[in-house]
Amino acid sequence: MISSMDTLACLRERRTCRGFLRRAVPAPIIDEILTDALWAPSASNQQPWHFHVIEGKSLAHLNQFVKLAHQEQRRSYDPSKGKTIPAQYVQRTKELFRAIRPFIAQLGDGNAAFIESGSFRFYDAPTVALITMHADMPPVRYLDIGMAAQNLMLSAHARGLGTCAIALTLMYTDAIRAALNLPEEALPVLFIAVGYPDPDFPVNQFRSGREGLETCVTRHT
Ligand SMILES: Cc1cc2nc3c(=O)[nH]c(=O)nc-3n(C[C@H](O)[C@H](O)[C@H](O)COP(=O)(O)O)c2cc1C
Repeated sequence: MISSMDTLACLRERRTCRGFLRRAVPAPIIDEILTDALWAPSASNQQPWHFHVIEGKSLAHLNQFVKLAHQEQRRSYDPSKGKTIPAQYVQRTKELFRAIRPFIAQLGDGNAAFIESGSFRFYDAPTVALITMHADMPPVRYLDIGMAAQNLMLSAHARGLGTCAIALTLMYTDAIRAALNLPEEALPVLFIAVGYPDPDFPVNQFRSGREGLETCVTRHT
């Protein structure tokens, strides 16, 4: 039976995990969380997502390709290009980095180095999901991908697993395509690292905050 309290607790308790135990996630559990992801809503029920589950040798292979692309700075696109992000949102990134710094410092790392190198090796998670979308889909379908990604992360959390959504690594899309032999039409949209959280990993103790209703809500009455 579904308990609404469990659902609500799951929504509020989930936080990003950036340190995983070296323990494989059993395939039936991965299938369960993927099935939960597939139950996400999508515009006209088009279900524009495709999930690639990457583990074992394939994950090592992908890691090698990304590592090499990073060493050679073979970026397929520059994530800093495009529109200028408005100041109040940049401020929130600054706040995140200020708050997480002491936790990352315990590893002897700086923020940028930890997040970059961690993201590029998927924080050593035993399982990595890559969600792709058909390249001919309109950008608005990213919304559907986001819904499926959120379902996956909440389902994982409810089952005692940790996740980290990873977009940074997409800057090496050409290397990702080559490593996974993706078909031309498969557009990589988001990675999600999945595994059992390492309770002793200092950065996992960090819990991000949120703006309040007074900042994020306008009531039209
Ligand atoms: C679309 C998306 C992309 C993200 N990309 C990365 C990433 O590349 N590396 C990383 O360490 N975290 C990444 N994150 C995690 C965010 O930093 C994190 O969700 C945010 O700081 C809020 O913290 P919380 O998930 O613990 O609530 C990403 C999250 C989202 C939703």
